[in-house]
Amino acid sequence: MALRVLNNPLLKHKLNIVRQKQTPPDKLRTLLEEIALMSMPLIFEDIPIRVERIETPTGVGDFEFVEEEDFVFVCILRAGLPLLNGALQALPGAGVGFLAIKRKEQNLEAELFYKRLPSLEGKCVVLLDPMLATGGTLNLALSELKPLKPKRLISLNLVASPEGVERIISEHPDVDLFILNIDEGLNPAGYIVPGVGDIGDRLFTEGL
Ligand code: URA
Repeated sequence: MALRVLNNPLLKHKLNIVRQKQTPPDKLRTLLEEIALMSMPLIFEDIPIRVERIETPTGVGDFEFVEEEDFVFVCILRAGLPLLNGALQALPGAGVGFLAIKRKEQNLEAELFYKRLPSLEGKCVVLLDPMLATGGTLNLALSELKPLKPKRLISLNLVASPEGVERIISEHPDVDLFILNIDEGLNPAGYIVPGVGDIGDRLFTEGL
């Protein structure tokens, strides 16, 4: 599987409140956190489980568990932060890594300026970034992660452009993309339209 669009009405509802330009930063952060938490069961439908015999207060049985330590969330700073909070509510035992990537305004080229990653070898790694615009940020992030030999690479993005999706599918067919909505396209400044605007600014610096 390379691409799955998460066509869930409740997820779409929350995303479309994010789109509205009057939605304030505190509400945006909560919505992104909720969207990430609600997306986790959809992303993790087919993950390996372990069966363990346990005691409940009233009996004994064989029940399914997930090995939380087999997962790592990699947050693209800064807009991925609320998504990380939501993802960690689903899997608190997962590892966490950070990549700070910024697009140069002149040519939209992605530039990495901070990296802090745990061991990814054999792990299921989930990249968290609200936007998949040109694909430059995700492409750079994947080129940092792949040499660390993860077992599986997943990207969760809320809004994507058709050209960004096409680029990632053709350059990284081994990566599973989970996206809430593929919008119309990109404007000349590299923003997704209709999109959500500059999500990092809207989440953290509006009103400063
Ligand atoms: N980054 C954003 O914050 N918004 C876009 O539309 C594209 C990239």
